[in-house]
Amino acid sequence: MLKYTTTRISPKYHQAMVQWQKKNFPELDVLLKYWDKYFGRIPKFELVAKVGELKSDVVETGKYAGQKKIERAGEMSGNMFYTARGIIRAQCSTELGSIQQHRLSLDTAINEQARFDVLRIMAEELRHAYQMFWVLDHDPSWKKPGHGDVAKETMEELLSMDLGTHVLDAFNIEFHSFLDNAVYATLIDLVGKYQLEMQQIFSYAPMARSMPPMLGEEGFHMGSGRRFLKELAVMAARGEGAYSLDDVQRAVNQWYPRGLEMFGNEKGGETAVAFGFKTKTNGQAQSEYAEECRRIVETTNLALMRVYHPNLPMDEARRLIEEIQRTREVKRGVKPEQLLYLPDRKFFRARGPEEVIFQPYDVDGRLLTQHGKPISPDEYVTYLKSVLPEPYVASREFAKYQKRLKEWHEQPHGIYGFGLN
Ligand SMILES: [Fe+2]
Ligand SMILES: [Fe+2]
Repeated sequence: MLKYTTTRISPKYHQAMVQWQKKNFPELDVLLKYWDKYFGRIPKFELVAKVGELKSDVVETGKYAGQKKIERAGEMSGNMFYTARGIIRAQCSTELGSIQQHRLSLDTAINEQARFDVLRIMAEELRHAYQMFWVLDHDPSWKKPGHGDVAKETMEELLSMDLGTHVLDAFNIEFHSFLDNAVYATLIDLVGKYQLEMQQIFSYAPMARSMPPMLGEEGFHMGSGRRFLKELAVMAARGEGAYSLDDVQRAVNQWYPRGLEMFGNEKGGETAVAFGFKTKTNGQAQSEYAEECRRIVETTNLALMRVYHPNLPMDEARRLIEEIQRTREVKRGVKPEQLLYLPDRKFFRARGPEEVIFQPYDVDGRLLTQHGKPISPDEYVTYLKSVLPEPYVASREFAKYQKRLKEWHEQPHGIYGFGLN
């Protein structure tokens, strides 16, 4: 059983968090009112910090390995102090952003249970934000001579963030329908799991203690996402519900690249490992994530296969899926577009290694060319519109992407320099 104690943050920030909730998540009241009906066996949600146990009293990785974990932020030297603060700030921003996102399409949930599942996810994300506030608020040494009150500045900035100003791109994208709630809980919350798992060893002890209870709650988010995704895909395959399989595929294409980018540049991440904040570099963690996403898509495809060929044994279904995906041909009456695909890691990237970002890669990872040259940014945008959800390509975030894409190619390292080191 997971062991932890509960605590609250100072009344000033507790109140600020409650105010934030009233403005951004008023539906919490409905969730609490009907909690027992939907989640009877689970203790009722409470806005508290949960302080778990350390797996180890000493730093496990990096240059301080073997030394005692740090209890007070002020004991961290400049770069380490600000790197820790950056991770806490980004983590908290993702929690708050996801509530603002989920809320936008809450009313399109496919049924009441699904709506309450999303409400519970939102409530738990609120608690996660509260947890990050606890990390900053309970330790007075975040106020450091010569550096100002870093905790106060960070918490106030976080409370004022909205869709568009969150730290990571994935948390600025607006949801347009329940398909977003579903695919996001599947692919984006999964990145959260990787981060939290790695951060269980965090050398600044209060952060490490925060991870196990958060991780437990994330299990529900990912589980819900996968359940929704499977349900929506199967409904689409049967011609039921509001979404086609192409809609589902486009949503996957939209979210997966942003999930990959949440790990940070896949060629970096050594600093966080050196400071004992994480166990893996960005690239290692991202590869494992990509593999897990591949398995999720495969599981969903197996569910689809049961619609097309209900009596096909599992191993045969698996082989058939693999064959259709590889050849892109109709096999046993199943068309390639009747399955789902995980895009290549190079597709639609805006952050990461230079040779990948803003390059016109298609969903299969092929560089799109014309007359032997990569296609222009405008042509790439036209391509993207053919594989991404319509409401998304009409959104502010996609406009931002297009602007950055153009700017990138106006620089000397532009597209036609591609491949020349
Ligand atoms: Fe969370
Ligand atoms: Fe989550």
